[in-house]
Amino acid sequence: MNTATIRSKFLDFFGRQHHVVKNSFSILPQDDPTLLFISAGMAPFKPYFLGLKTDIKRAATCQKCFRTTDIDNVGYTFRHHTFFEMLGNFSFGDYFKKEAIAWAWEFITKDLGLPKDRLHVSVHHSDDEAYQIWNRDMGVPADHLVKLGDKDNFWTIGVGPSGPCSEIYIDQGPALGCGDPKCAPGCDCARYLEFWNLVFTQYNRAEDGTLTPLEKKNIDTGMGLERLAAIMQGKTDNYDNDVFQGIVRHVEEITHRRYNDSTQIRTAMRVVGDHVRALSVALADGAMPGNEGRGYVLRKILRRAARFGYRYLGQEKPFLYQIVPTISRILDVYPEIQQNLDHVSRVIHGEEERFLVTLKTGSEILTDFIGRLRKDGKAELDGGRAFLLHDTYGFPLDLTREICREEKMTVDEKGFATELEKQREREIGRASCRERV
Ligand code: ALA
Repeated sequence: MNTATIRSKFLDFFGRQHHVVKNSFSILPQDDPTLLFISAGMAPFKPYFLGLKTDIKRAATCQKCFRTTDIDNVGYTFRHHTFFEMLGNFSFGDYFKKEAIAWAWEFITKDLGLPKDRLHVSVHHSDDEAYQIWNRDMGVPADHLVKLGDKDNFWTIGVGPSGPCSEIYIDQGPALGCGDPKCAPGCDCARYLEFWNLVFTQYNRAEDGTLTPLEKKNIDTGMGLERLAAIMQGKTDNYDNDVFQGIVRHVEEITHRRYNDSTQIRTAMRVVGDHVRALSVALADGAMPGNEGRGYVLRKILRRAARFGYRYLGQEKPFLYQIVPTISRILDVYPEIQQNLDHVSRVIHGEEERFLVTLKTGSEILTDFIGRLRKDGKAELDGGRAFLLHDTYGFPLDLTREICREEKMTVDEKGFATELEKQREREIGRASCRERV
């Protein structure tokens, strides 16, 4: 089953349960200073959970999301993404646990046809009600149900609506497991893969962590579409699903490299595919690369993709921008990408072009530093050299860190911070001298 079919099956299913099916909101939060990007399907609905807006009681979306945590892992794992699509159904003071659980179970076991014997569920350890609904009403046996603590089964977005949750997992088989006889959902190994989170949203969380009960009980669910597509296509790696493989084929054509030729090429193509997808969506929604906040995150991922292309895919000239039309075609459910195609491609091309100059010089200098340190038997790049790269050559610390990581070296980041501080003090000194004259 391809990604587009799963997306529409989900929305149709909840449409039939009288949800208002909405298009994805922009990936850029509106009137929400607590977020740089929309990071979950529920985020644009915060006013509904808080009872500030009441015109709809049930909604379902496939929401464009972007998470900034773990950017450095993207490419190295099967699961990490920056941009992803989240399927969600929401109740604002309307239905609660019983219906949310029953519909989730019906959708995955009937509409998607996932085998019950491979499905496992976790609930918050204090939530007997959810446990009973799963066990008694849905017939999920006790050996497929676990109770976990706040770390796994209490969901928050930082500031705003939050609550205990229940997660649905698929057993990917012992070959991916740790072999521990007690291995179960919640274990750090890859065997049990969580794919749908049902949150029983009952609190408003303040910045200091204080939880205030909400007037009404709500439902917020989130299911990662990339992950679900991989499951439905019998893959254990999200990047093997139809959407990513479509992007990868085009990257192969442009770069004349094969995805499966080496781990490094695979990593590089995942980075390029993920990051250009994120950039296409964010730029089409009006964001721009820059030096601060959201703009800096976008600049950072663009540079990271350019660097992987340069180093592992032989791309010394801008090439990322060429992938945008493919992404726009594959993500045609978001027509704003096609509508802004020229703009998005131009911005990416311009950034790549400027950055490649910095990248070439910086990489050569860093390679030279690493060679010399190795000769001296050292495995750490000192803060002074990292700072020189940053300050004189505009070569960002995160790239220095990533290249060093590939070379099995560390960076003295404390030393870097000290150099940065010294420079600030010098600047303040110079400014106050200017004020005196
Ligand atoms: N808001 C919940 C999540 O993002 C569903 O996991």
